[in-house]
Amino acid sequence: MHVINQNHSSEVILGDDVFSTLEQFLSRQHRAYTVFILVDENTEKLCLSLFLSCIPSLKNAILLKIHSGEQNKNLASCESLWNQLSQHNADRHSLLINLGGGMIGDVGGFVAATFMRGISFVNVPTTLLAMVDASSGGKNGINLSGLKNQVGTFTNPLAVCISPLFLKTLPPRDIRAGFGELIKHALIADINYWKEIKAIRSLENVDWNPLIAKSVQIKRQIVNADFKEKNLRKTLNFGHTIGHALESYSMKHHQDPLKHGEAVAAGMVTELFLSVGIIGFPVSQMEAIVDFILLHFNLSELEFDIKEILSLISHDKKTVGKDTHFVLLKDIGYPVIHNQPEEQEIRDALQFTLNRFHQTTYTS
Ligand SMILES: NC(=O)c1ccc[n+]([C@@H]2O[C@H](COP(=O)([O-])OP(=O)(O)OC[C@H]3O[C@@H](n4cnc5c(N)ncnc54)[C@H](O)[C@@H]3O)[C@@H](O)[C@H]2O)c1
Ligand SMILES: [Zn+2]
Repeated sequence: MHVINQNHSSEVILGDDVFSTLEQFLSRQHRAYTVFILVDENTEKLCLSLFLSCIPSLKNAILLKIHSGEQNKNLASCESLWNQLSQHNADRHSLLINLGGGMIGDVGGFVAATFMRGISFVNVPTTLLAMVDASSGGKNGINLSGLKNQVGTFTNPLAVCISPLFLKTLPPRDIRAGFGELIKHALIADINYWKEIKAIRSLENVDWNPLIAKSVQIKRQIVNADFKEKNLRKTLNFGHTIGHALESYSMKHHQDPLKHGEAVAAGMVTELFLSVGIIGFPVSQMEAIVDFILLHFNLSELEFDIKEILSLISHDKKTVGKDTHFVLLKDIGYPVIHNQPEEQEIRDALQFTLNRFHQTTYTS
């Protein structure tokens, strides 16, 4: 059992015996609260019975459901949940457990942060992406009119309980998506972590436990230093200025849209190219990282209209006035916030990204 707890932020429970640790943690809260568990249809089918069998005291919890998918990370899902909570007489002492991926955590966190001006919630991430990134840090929110995360709050969960047991049923494509965020943590923070990750040639049979612990530690160190993203926390957005634009574009134009982690992987390729041109990131390092991303991410059908991506970038929350914030790398572990690349530089970087994904012949 391993509990990381710092000052006012949430408890992170990972390692062995996470469920009994969570059960003890909840019983220590000394409150006779009603517990709600939020699921989507996949986590209801594949994760709920495991969770309840490990924490029998939650078997009387009230189940709340929304449909899976990024397209449902919206106001309609929140309204449905606020109504469900209200119909079940939830009050300010109620507790919401978000059992699912980043989408469930983002919607559930936002609903909890706003219902009756805020009820407590616990995140139990069931995807790799949510385990390594989305479940901690206190950001939640929903998409609005096709734009990512336009409405939301900074509210910490009471606790985050991470068990890789849930990964057994997660499709390989979602494992890859989570791997994208993990690569990001290594590149912005720790060259030794990057060396460890770079040695992974296949995502089957990886022991995720130590990697999750390392990623969570990196994210929490950054978030604890700058919860409201005034400065340092922005570095966690490496790959995301472009990634969010690609994700929004893909949601609008593609039947099978890019997953968040896939969009971030492509975004990191673009932003590494910008890093080389603007602040002198070593070309050979960029080539090695891009090759590694191409090895794992089969995005040969990646397609986008550069003009529309440029317009989506300007809607990004990381835009202040006319300036768009990009996180670039001076070197591995040395992120730099760069305010406004020239439009032509961004165009060239996007073109480079398209070329590189299309050139690759995939073996898997
Ligand atoms: N709040 C944050 O700090 C933060 C950080 C990163 C990403 N995000 C958000 O997270 C979302 C992406 O999260 P995600 O990649 O977890 O996607 P997701 O939550 O949409 O889950 C992906 C799919 O996996 C299914 N699923 C979940 N757990 C499963 C399991 N154990 N077995 C089988 N299927 C399972 C889900 O039902 C869904 O169909 C995006 O909306 C992104 O913006 C938030
Ligand atoms: Zn992300």
